[in-house]
Amino acid sequence: MSQITPAIFRQPNPAVVQLLPPSVDIEFNSIKFSVITKSTPKQILKGVDGMFKAGTINAILGPSGSGKTTLLNILSKRINQTKHSQLSGEVIANNSLFSKEQFGKFGAYVM
Ligand SMILES: Nc1ncnc2c1ncn2[C@@H]1O[C@H](COP(=O)(O)OP(=O)(O)OP(=O)(O)O)[C@@H](O)[C@H]1O
Ligand SMILES: [Mg+2]
Repeated sequence: MSQITPAIFRQPNPAVVQLLPPSVDIEFNSIKFSVITKSTPKQILKGVDGMFKAGTINAILGPSGSGKTTLLNILSKRINQTKHSQLSGEVIANNSLFSKEQFGKFGAYVM
C-alpha cells in the first residue's frame, strides 16, 4: 500500500524566524528648545536629560504646559530648528544619531 507523506515532511527543514521588535535604547541629553514669539524667545525646555532603555515602560510626567508633548516631538524628530525656534542637545538611539525616517523604522508615535 502506498503511503502519502504530508507536504510539510517532504520539505527540507523549515527555517525558524523569530520576529522581534528592534531593541533600541533612546538617550537624550541637554535638550533645550525655545520659540521666538513677538521677537522675544520663550524657553520651553531648559536642558532635559533622560534614557529610555529598550524593553522598559517609561512615563513622562509634568503639569500642563511643562513641555511633555514638545519633548516627545523632539525625540521623534517631528520638531527641528527653524528660524522661529532654537533646538539644541542630542537625541541618540543605540549610541547613534538618527533622522526622522530612521525613527520610523524602530519607533512609532501616535498622538
Ligand atoms: N510652537 C510653539 N510656539 C509657541 N509656544 C509653544 C509652541 N509649542 C509649545 N509651546 C508652548 O510650550 C509650552 C509647553 O507645551 P507642551 O504642549 O509641550 O506642554 P504639555 O506638557 O504637553 O502640556 P499638556 O499637559 O497640556 O499637554 C506651552 O506653554 C505651550 O504653549
Ligand atoms: Mg501635551
